[in-house]
Amino acid sequence: MNHQISPVENEVSVIDFGSQYTQLIVRRVRELGFLAHLYQPEELPLLNKPGAIILSGGPKSTHDEDAIDIDFAALQGYGVPVLGVCYGMQLLNLKFGGSVSRSEHREYGPAQLVPKGDSPLYQGVKDSQVWMSHSDTVENLSETTQVIATNKDGIPVSLSWGHDFYGIQFHPEVTHSHQGTLILKNFLNLAPELKPFKINDFKEELLEKIRKDVGGREVVCGVSGGVDSTVLAVLLKEAGVNMRAIFVDHGLLRKNESAEVQSYFKKIGINLQVLEVSELFLGKLAGVSDPEVKRKIIGNLFLDVFWDAVGGEVELLAQGTLYPDVIESASNKNSKASTIKTHHNRISRVLELQEQGKVLEPLDQLFKDEVRELGMLLGIDADIVNRHPFPGPGLAVRCPGAITPEKLHSIREADAIFIGKLKEHGWYDKVWQACVTLIDSKTVGVKGDERSYENPVSLRAVISEDAMTADWVELPYELIREVSNLILNKVPGVNRVLYDVSTKPPASIEWE
Ligand code: XMP
Repeated sequence: MNHQISPVENEVSVIDFGSQYTQLIVRRVRELGFLAHLYQPEELPLLNKPGAIILSGGPKSTHDEDAIDIDFAALQGYGVPVLGVCYGMQLLNLKFGGSVSRSEHREYGPAQLVPKGDSPLYQGVKDSQVWMSHSDTVENLSETTQVIATNKDGIPVSLSWGHDFYGIQFHPEVTHSHQGTLILKNFLNLAPELKPFKINDFKEELLEKIRKDVGGREVVCGVSGGVDSTVLAVLLKEAGVNMRAIFVDHGLLRKNESAEVQSYFKKIGINLQVLEVSELFLGKLAGVSDPEVKRKIIGNLFLDVFWDAVGGEVELLAQGTLYPDVIESASNKNSKASTIKTHHNRISRVLELQEQGKVLEPLDQLFKDEVRELGMLLGIDADIVNRHPFPGPGLAVRCPGAITPEKLHSIREADAIFIGKLKEHGWYDKVWQACVTLIDSKTVGVKGDERSYENPVSLRAVISEDAMTADWVELPYELIREVSNLILNKVPGVNRVLYDVSTKPPASIEWE
């Protein structure tokens, strides 16, 4: 296994062929109330009595020399319902004796689904839009294959082989497939014994597991004020373990953030060790404008300061690593593609501790929204549970060019205005993340009767599922106007406001 999840009996095992949507399949299954985990294709024979199996889509063609294969005998041996999505369906068609035709042309976007016959997969599903993202298509079908849905031109987009094997060419896990969730639900109905996923039961199991894993050891954990580390700290407190929580104020936090974090932890009775090291960070960053160099300085300094405070031998380090991080690290390890960034939870020092059994990651099976649900159950204030994600390097990634205290002040003030207005107008909880970036290029303007030569800021608000992809939010013009007027009137050093209308990909959420 290349991640730490041991297969669980009667869960839904999702086999990852590398599609950008694979994590969404796991999420959708959990949203439907069942436990699901992701596995690599080579892990298929190692599953532990799965309740159902889903083969994901993927970027490869089954014709590629290095096409990813599966152990079909093992798959059949489980005797449970199997759903192949996109590449997964093409693979099943090949395994059942059909063929797949290669195409250089990619079909990407909406198509019309027309269910045929009375397959249980399409119970209650009407003709509706589905989302396609593929090149190859199934060609010849074996005699045992049944076409259970086509597109509007009569081309097969969904197949079945006997009672247990189903294939769909489109992506039911994305919201653009209008009845995708119902199709997944119908598939899961074919597996009566599936293990339910309920966050409350999960919480109790988690507390018990933490107590057992910790034994009598002291647990050190870093706190940032964000959702994950707060939930982690409160969970450790609830488990009654001996904890030492450390908060690093690196001077790159938002307006009032440090004070707010400290006062919240005081309120809930968790003693925080605060490391006020702003000067150290800003000193080392002075004059540095390369984004990667800045990241490295911040990352290394953070670790130095943190480990210095920890001092001596660590008995147990707790981290708020989430399931997408685990998956990402596992797929980075497997992937031939270059790693874009090493996850900060997987630096060598942590890996060493992990090998010695000294790392505790209680949230490593949860998605962000599930962590939020857990946070609510633990009684954490809603405005903390629903906080937008905030990057570890803080405002540094929103300050292209060299960082100065003046620029940070402008970003903080503009950010406070933007976030404040989003909250006031009920938009804060509707967006995944919103941020203000100070653009490192001066523009001419007029302030009062004087010429101004100052920086623009860019506002960005995105919706996303776990930050892998993102779309910009169509905020009302009146709201943008109000924010813009306030920023132009109140924030020093800023004479222009822009609204970022870039999707991710290709743009990332942060500017650096
Ligand atoms: P990007 O900019 O890559 O960001 O689209 C995706 C999500 O990750 C956050 N982010 C980070 N979080 N350390 C973090 O803990 C980092 O170095 C970092 N860089 C980006 C970003 O805010 C967004 O939520």
